Amino acid sequence: MAILVTGGCGFIGSHTVVELLNAGKDVIVIDNLDNSSEKSLERVKEITGKDVTFYKLDIRDREGLEKLFTDRKDIEGCIHFAGKKAVGESVAFPWEYYENNIGGTLTLIDVMRKHGVKNLIFSSSSTVYGDPDSVPVTEESPVKKCTNPYGSTKAMQETILTDIQHADSEWNIVLLRYFNPIGAHKSGKIGEDPNGIPNNLMPYITQVAVGKLEYLRVFGDDYPTPDGTGIRDYIHVVDLAKGHVCAVNKVMSGTGVNIYNLGTGNGYSVLEIIQAFEKANDVKIPYVIKERREGDIATCYADPKKAYEELGWKAEYDLERMCKDSWRFIRNVSK
Ligand SMILES: NC(=O)c1ccc[n+]([C@@H]2O[C@H](COP(=O)([O-])OP(=O)(O)OC[C@H]3O[C@@H](n4cnc5c(N)ncnc54)[C@H](O)[C@@H]3O)[C@@H](O)[C@H]2O)c1
Repeated sequence: MAILVTGGCGFIGSHTVVELLNAGKDVIVIDNLDNSSEKSLERVKEITGKDVTFYKLDIRDREGLEKLFTDRKDIEGCIHFAGKKAVGESVAFPWEYYENNIGGTLTLIDVMRKHGVKNLIFSSSSTVYGDPDSVPVTEESPVKKCTNPYGSTKAMQETILTDIQHADSEWNIVLLRYFNPIGAHKSGKIGEDPNGIPNNLMPYITQVAVGKLEYLRVFGDDYPTPDGTGIRDYIHVVDLAKGHVCAVNKVMSGTGVNIYNLGTGNGYSVLEIIQAFEKANDVKIPYVIKERREGDIATCYADPKKAYEELGWKAEYDLERMCKDSWRFIRNVSK
């Protein structure tokens, strides 16, 4: 039996494919390559020594999906990463975000149910907690109004998937709320290297470290945190990927809708991340303090207890390791 991975050429998807293959699973990847390249799967093959079947396919392409599910009767479940993910871009292009993320998911699950495949793991985000009333956030913490269309698509997709499972108990859905994935595979072959000015902290730091950008912009130093900069829960992407392998086992055991936080439970400020990166890699990261960025919040980190108790999963890599692995990858791709 095989697991279908949508968006499997991307940052988290490619690391998850590695862990699925390492766990002995058969993997089929579909991706429209909107924000990635097929090269990442070549690297996955180099890392694991195993083959991955790839189809260049858009999750909005109903006919293409129909053909895939007709040809591949061995698909038993899906890990659904495919989606647009840039917060700022989603503010400028909301239609494109709703059409791709919501429209794509609706098409995907419609084709899945027609073919009797009703096991799905969905990439959600801690962004659904908005500005939390207290930290750490548990899965019971309220889902709040999101400050941007990207976040709204995540909250809406969670609602859609939950409603569909409530109407049809044959569905098994795991909603994984990721905190802030950083780092890269230890081989330095796969990682995150976005085009343009990065939206997230670690890719920004690594671009400054390799000299692509002159300095890092730190958005706000007047938050109610010890050093005034925002606090987040950074998690190594390989730990996150391993969480998906545990979630596959859960979803196949058939227990309705389950939600899990995938985070470390530790919060680090922007300045702490800069210092940790400088120390781990012996490089200097010049930075300039700027105004707060609209929609950013002071502090968010996870209570990851439920994932440990029910999935047997917990994050293992520390911040030093995350910084070293991010740096190794970016030096490799910048050569
Ligand atoms: N990286 C993060 O910080 C983070 C945090 C929380 C949640 N997530 C979610 O996790 C998922 C994976 O994120 P990532 O960081 O690996 O992003 P990514 O952009 O690297 O990967 C997403 C992949 O989906 C593909 N894709 C987009 N639209 C598609 C479509 N219509 N059909 C087929 N493929 C399509 C892209 O080409 C890309 O390869 C996304 O859903 C993202 O919203 C990411």
